[in-house]
Amino acid sequence: MSAELDPRLLTRAREVVSSITGFRDDAIASEAMERVVRQELARGRSSADILGEMLFPQSPLSGTLVRAALVGETYFFRQPEHFRYISQAGVPAALRKGALALRGWSAGCATGEEAYSLAAALLASVPHGFPVEVLGTDLHEASLETARRASYGTWSRRESAPRLFPLYLDAPERQVTILPVVRRITTFAQGNLLAPLPERFGRFDFILCRNVLTYFSPAAREQAISLLTRALNPGGFLFLGAVEADRVPPGMVREGPPELQTFRMLAPGELTTPAPAPRPVERSEPPAPLFRKPKATPVPVVPARVTPPPPPSRLHLEALERIEEGDVEGAAAVLESLVRQAPDYLPGLLELALLRERTGAREAAVPLMRALRVRAERLAPDHLVDGPEALPARFYQASADAYLNQGALE
Ligand SMILES: C[S@@+](CC[C@H](N)C(=O)[O-])C[C@H]1O[C@@H](n2cnc3c(N)ncnc32)[C@H](O)[C@@H]1O
Repeated sequence: MSAELDPRLLTRAREVVSSITGFRDDAIASEAMERVVRQELARGRSSADILGEMLFPQSPLSGTLVRAALVGETYFFRQPEHFRYISQAGVPAALRKGALALRGWSAGCATGEEAYSLAAALLASVPHGFPVEVLGTDLHEASLETARRASYGTWSRRESAPRLFPLYLDAPERQVTILPVVRRITTFAQGNLLAPLPERFGRFDFILCRNVLTYFSPAAREQAISLLTRALNPGGFLFLGAVEADRVPPGMVREGPPELQTFRMLAPGELTTPAPAPRPVERSEPPAPLFRKPKATPVPVVPARVTPPPPPSRLHLEALERIEEGDVEGAAAVLESLVRQAPDYLPGLLELALLRERTGAREAAVPLMRALRVRAERLAPDHLVDGPEALPARFYQASADAYLNQGALE
């Protein structure tokens, strides 16, 4: 029979875990706490010594307790309806709104199956070469190491969750390796959902946080959801596990049936008034065009000699509005005008290149991507480029590289 434990040890162990993870008291396994505490006692430590160390959340013992409490159960394409929704509704909506790239975050990714599934779903749903990135974060560093190895056994591939998108090659072996194209766009970092994600990770269009908040106290859940929504781009989607939110998070709307637990961040125009009517485009004397001018809807022109040209971002926003209204030709004409007026405005080059790619005019997209790469290379990688969204120059360079390096485009 095992010796009686000082009850304060288990109480404090649970408090430590709860304060670090946000877990409800009844979601912390007593046996796990007892096992860790007994191991410490078996090493000859006194109860007072152990209690003292548990006062410090950064201490090794606090870390051991947290790791013992975490539950890392996961598998590929778990809750497949979310991945179907992303592919069939989320990505098309983002592309219609003129997204320049798509970014996903698997928050509480455990050993990475969810992050890779998201990356595979996004990749399979965008035009060839469209920039996609996925971040996976978790509190548990050892799980992240497994995720980075990208090699999985049969436990990660469940019959109950079909392989919806290309993710790994079928292999006779028990272990499968994630496809390089999926692995290349997926990165992992340690992070606690109770703390804001550092700014350097940017914002996301799709956040999956599933089967994590179910362990949290109501207050911790609120805090985590609020931080998650702050990391979303306008129009971005948040996917939670079943029964992980009892109400629609502020600033969001529910998408799909309630059981889908999917929410969309409202864009600024949706919060207030309807989108403004398209503004007339002003033109200055255009420099030589960067590429052959395709047939385009005429754009209203006002004389430039009396009015200075509008700032590039204004024209860019106008093009985005036109894309949103389904006026692709009009948007292309505005973007062409923008590229002529401001050939160094990187977001304009990328926007027009992507629009050309989406409409099948690859021969027009390639020179634009080349121009983008040349101009982005002239800037320091971390230089923030103004646009509807301030993004570092390296983003534009990487987008152009990713596009130009696909297939034999160059
Ligand atoms: C059950 S797994 C879910 C994995 C995946 N999201 C899925 O649905 O398949 C829960 C994960 O959440 C992580 N987790 C729990 N609390 C966390 C916190 N406060 N911050 C970050 N990750 C946390 C755990 O380490 C664990 O890997």
